[in-house]
Amino acid sequence: MEVLNRTHHDDQAERLKVVTGLLAPEASLPPKYFYDELGCALYGAICQLPEYYPTRTELAIFQSRRAEIADAMGAGRQFVDLGAGDCCKAESWLPFLSPSRYVAVDIAGAEIERALARMSLDFPEVDMIGVVTDFSESLDLADVIHAGPVTFFYPGSSIGNFTPEDALGFLKRIFAMCSEREQSGLLIGVDAKKSNARLQAAYDDALGVTAAFNRNVLLHLNRRFGFDFDLNGYRHLGLYNAVLGRIEMHLESLRDQTVRLAEGAVRIFAKGERIHTENSYKYTAEEFEALLAVAGFSRIQRWTDADEQFNVFFAC
Ligand code: AVJ
Repeated sequence: MEVLNRTHHDDQAERLKVVTGLLAPEASLPPKYFYDELGCALYGAICQLPEYYPTRTELAIFQSRRAEIADAMGAGRQFVDLGAGDCCKAESWLPFLSPSRYVAVDIAGAEIERALARMSLDFPEVDMIGVVTDFSESLDLADVIHAGPVTFFYPGSSIGNFTPEDALGFLKRIFAMCSEREQSGLLIGVDAKKSNARLQAAYDDALGVTAAFNRNVLLHLNRRFGFDFDLNGYRHLGLYNAVLGRIEMHLESLRDQTVRLAEGAVRIFAKGERIHTENSYKYTAEEFEALLAVAGFSRIQRWTDADEQFNVFFAC
């Protein structure tokens, strides 16, 4: 087992990007900053909330169609897990896929280390490698993936964090890697469009876990870059934008306030002003099939739950 760290560690450049996003008239932050240690734990809690259906719906599809989906993917491939997190989703596939290698890619380094250490005990025959990187910016796995077939695994509807244009670019890059290798493909989970009420409840739960997950980004940035956000000054918003087909998460300033961002740079937030922290796009089955087809995939299989709340695609 080996874990490669591909995060650039150019703190100055990263800070500049974050500060630029916060200084823009419509302030925004990249969602990757949700996932510090506490953020990963809060995301794990979100997945257990009664309102947050995507994780358990996807799992139910995987569990009820396991053999059929595994058959579509084929055994003995390299299994590349994009956004592996705690690796639990991938782990349940391993006995069905007998992969030649398991490559776990994620921004959360400590979580990947823990998960691979645990899994390599249960699957000593599988060569395991972790890659700590922000693949939303560049999916460069050329030196990590060996020759021979690959199955890419991108579950959980994480593709929803991209705009549809960026999602298409991302799918094209995956298709390019698949087309270089026979018998390769992509298994991807995508949340479906549904009622406003159900979507909004999933991103604004009664316990306030999603609110904590969203507000934790400020705690993370304060620690990481030395900002001085006052957490009590912002409330969580999780809203479905039906026109754009996406959930939007924002942090709304509860009063007029000033944040110190860097040497001399401050951002003044007026009461009611928002920081846009996440988009989570939802796709009908037809919309996502079209996106896969435009990206180059020609064989597309789909599995769903009884209420078609969530779709799983294998594309090659
Ligand atoms: C991890 C990106 C799939 O968009 O549903 C959960 C993150 N944000 N609740 C999603 C998230 C708020 C999640 N993804």
